[in-house]
Amino acid sequence: MDLAKFQRKNIVVLTGAGVSAESGVPTFRGEDGLWRNYRAEDLATPSAFARDPQLVWEWYQWRRELIAACKANPAHDFIARLERDHGGDFLLVTQNVDGLHRLAGSRKIVEVHGNIWDVRCASCGAGREDRTLPFPELPPKCDACGGLLRPGVVWFGESLPEEAMGMAFAAAESCDLMLVVGTSAVVYPVAYLPQLAKRAGAYVIEVNPDETPLTPLADESLRGKAGEVLGEIKL
Ligand code: OAD
Repeated sequence: MDLAKFQRKNIVVLTGAGVSAESGVPTFRGEDGLWRNYRAEDLATPSAFARDPQLVWEWYQWRRELIAACKANPAHDFIARLERDHGGDFLLVTQNVDGLHRLAGSRKIVEVHGNIWDVRCASCGAGREDRTLPFPELPPKCDACGGLLRPGVVWFGESLPEEAMGMAFAAAESCDLMLVVGTSAVVYPVAYLPQLAKRAGAYVIEVNPDETPLTPLADESLRGKAGEVLGEIKL
């Protein structure tokens, strides 16, 4: 991958669960993926929360514990350096809720599926970061209205945060390079972003050990683990 020609150009990086795999955060699909052992409709939908908020929270608290023990890896570090050093417009669009990009130093980020360290009241809508671990009772309650707090993430069947998606689409349409790291590229609308970038003339590079539906469209596919592939690139 030759990034020299994209110095001072517009770069969008799109990441999925694979970028955090080497940090020890499980992916969703694939051999050890979360959706192999858990049914999304029991745990990650508004109706699952309405039915059994405690069960949903137990799952999210387990994931918070797991993520709290993880550190950023060389792929997160590379993406943070790219933002800092390349000198042009930059946006990181992540589907990940683990917060590891921010930990690695990335700043221009849109978290289109939310963040597992945020909570939001299911009744009054008040939202904030809350890193309490473990919560003394599950489900936790809203200080303002006593309603049930829910994880600040996007669930299946919910729309994505409008402002974040607006920024992501605008950046995809105007970037010169889109670097797509560690996503199966099957979850929409995020999977539209590389298609949009490509149509608008961007160079698209995919980093993933496996082929994805994006592969035929990508200008380059770098086969390997994100930390290994990106960790070797000097900027
Ligand atoms: P997936 O689990 O669908 O895909 C992970 C991708 O990472 C796969 O293509 C793997 O081949 C790749 N991968 C695995 N290890 C890797 C490594 N070390 N380096 C690079 N790539 C690696 O995760 P996402 O594409 O992020 O949504 O899934 C998209 C959305 O589906 C998630 O945000 C989540 C999920 O349901 C919500 O929860 C709303």
